[in-house]
Amino acid sequence: MTTSTTLPGGTWQLGDRTVTRFGYGAMQLAGPGVMGPPADHDGAIAVLRDAVEQGITHVDTSGAYGPDVVNELIRQALYPYPESLTIATKVGADRDGRGGWPTARTPADLRRQVHDNLATLGVERLDLVNMRMGDAAGPAPGSITEQMETLAELQQQGLIGQVGVSNVTAEQLATAREVTPIVCVQNMYNLAGRWDDPIIDRLAADGIAYVPFFPLGGFTPLQADALSAVAARLDATPMAVALAWLLQRSDNILLIPGTSKVTHLRANIAGAALSLTAHDVAELDSIA
Ligand SMILES: NC(=O)c1ccc[n+]([C@@H]2O[C@H](COP(=O)([O-])OP(=O)(O)OC[C@H]3O[C@@H](n4cnc5c(N)ncnc54)[C@H](OP(=O)(O)O)[C@@H]3O)[C@@H](O)[C@H]2O)c1
Repeated sequence: MTTSTTLPGGTWQLGDRTVTRFGYGAMQLAGPGVMGPPADHDGAIAVLRDAVEQGITHVDTSGAYGPDVVNELIRQALYPYPESLTIATKVGADRDGRGGWPTARTPADLRRQVHDNLATLGVERLDLVNMRMGDAAGPAPGSITEQMETLAELQQQGLIGQVGVSNVTAEQLATAREVTPIVCVQNMYNLAGRWDDPIIDRLAADGIAYVPFFPLGGFTPLQADALSAVAARLDATPMAVALAWLLQRSDNILLIPGTSKVTHLRANIAGAALSLTAHDVAELDSIA
């Protein structure tokens, strides 16, 4: 099933797993508001299969997407999983009946969520679990110690391969790293929202991956005059420029753009290979 296509950005060593820097974020496969089944079930399955066929070896998910819906789609589309595939999931939030994302991060919550992810993905060990802090508004101060201790314990029990953190402040990141080794940080970042620049540089120096969510702006597509100008000059789309810029920003950045369409997935792969000159980058840097 897996082809040897060379994807833009090459590969990154994520702990003991090698992943393509061009990955896939599966959140948008659920229904509206990341709740319930997709409108186009077969289309969702096709996107997941095409991602792997294009050579992608890093898929991002969460038991909270749907909830359970996206994990079950991944299992349906890709099980038995290729050995090369790394599936990253997240714990730290549940879903309520109105589509909210209530935080749920007591040790009991985290153990339950890890077991739920194991069941819905159909595996005995999760490749990578991100401890998601904060909420929909972004990172928020608060202790992460107990949460990381719980994930480290689950890792020692063999239920988790690697551990990462998500939606964290710089302080939470530092504390997390004191509790247990982490392989990645997944925070919101894109060329219009560069609040994590210092964190990215520090992680790059330490060999830890940074996985920006909302690389294309998430639910609100990225828009900026400089972005449109560079895209027009290069005869490319703003999305291609945004992805190429991230790949060129730092070697430790891993892409997980989301899409529910095979055509968009392929356009994004092709677009991310765009080569930006120093002049292009300087113009794009002015956006932030
Ligand atoms: N840790 C966290 O708290 C957290 C939070 C949010 C997301 N995430 C993860 O990050 C991943 C990426 O975020 P995201 O998917 O929400 O946002 P995103 O990648 O920034 O953007 C996805 C949106 O862009 C559209 N799109 C993608 N390619 C396109 C193209 N070539 N042309 C036109 N439209 C295109 C998609 O619509 P179409 O479906 O129509 O292509 C979708 O609406 C998620 O899938 C999820 O795995 C993590």
